[in-house]
Amino acid sequence: MPTIIPFMREEKKEKVIYFTSLVKNMKVLVATEKPFAKEAVEGIRQIIEQAGYELCLLEKYTDKAQLLEAVAEVDALIIRSDKVTAEVIEAAKNLKIVVRAGAGYDNVDLAAATTRGVVVMNTPGQNSNAVAELALAMMIYMARNRFTPGTGSELQGKTLAIHAYGNVGKLVGRKGKALGMNVIAYDPFITDKAVFEADGVEAVDSVEELYKRANYLSLHIPATAETKSSIGYEKLMSMPKGATLVNTARKEVIDEAGVMQAMTEREDLKYITDIAPVAVAEMEAQFGKRFFATPKKQGAETAEANINAGLAAARQIVDYFVNGVTRFQVNK
Ligand code: 3PG
Repeated sequence: MPTIIPFMREEKKEKVIYFTSLVKNMKVLVATEKPFAKEAVEGIRQIIEQAGYELCLLEKYTDKAQLLEAVAEVDALIIRSDKVTAEVIEAAKNLKIVVRAGAGYDNVDLAAATTRGVVVMNTPGQNSNAVAELALAMMIYMARNRFTPGTGSELQGKTLAIHAYGNVGKLVGRKGKALGMNVIAYDPFITDKAVFEADGVEAVDSVEELYKRANYLSLHIPATAETKSSIGYEKLMSMPKGATLVNTARKEVIDEAGVMQAMTEREDLKYITDIAPVAVAEMEAQFGKRFFATPKKQGAETAEANINAGLAAARQIVDYFVNGVTRFQVNK
């Protein structure tokens, strides 16, 4: 059984790990509670097996114990929103790399991974189009009274406000413009207005202004310590009459009590989300047609997105083991 002997070399001030010995008998586990499309799994299998590694599959698992057992022997792990906790990392004695096939990696305990020397990567941009399409579909769904009888409204001419201008935010903006929307955006990490202007998008100066002008507010912020519960009462109350909050990001960024309070005081406000809130039952009962949550997160649930993100994850694992490439590492 070949062993892996990594050594470190200083190159352009970056530490690059090269595996010098034969890297064979590697076990790569795809652990997806919400499985990839079949074509994506087949594509992943091809990449992994062509590299001489073994592919293991754990799909639709229902219990954490199944994941703990499945990771015991594996060297690499491909996941979606699956929770990779300190306990999972502890159980995965041979684990060297985790790739989150997707953008948000808030489901991985980065500190625990770093302590164990496990590399964590994401696959940014690979499923963005699917999420962006869903965001626009959600706007139309709410504008047309959730496809129930009655007079709806159009997106054309309305202001689409994009909160965070990353891969998904940009695509939502582009699609909104194609529908004739007036697109404005704010991103705390992008200070150069030229970035927005290059896309024909108006950069607003503050998050307050963004919400104040939003007929549709599309959320694309990650779930971090700073953003947790950051969207609540004040922001919603500042939105124009009839405004809709669209969440294809994370439920953790929402202050649910605050949103509920605002929607109780303002019967014109609407909220649609791809990530069911903790208080989903109360919201459904209280707000009727003004609230909708998808039964299971489906932003990235397209064959195209699964193939893009899944195959990228497999390639990144092989590239890491063979060439030491850490381009998409998020716990450097
Ligand atoms: C992401 O962060 O990439 C999306 O939320 C997709 O998540 P999923 O792979 O669980 O559908």
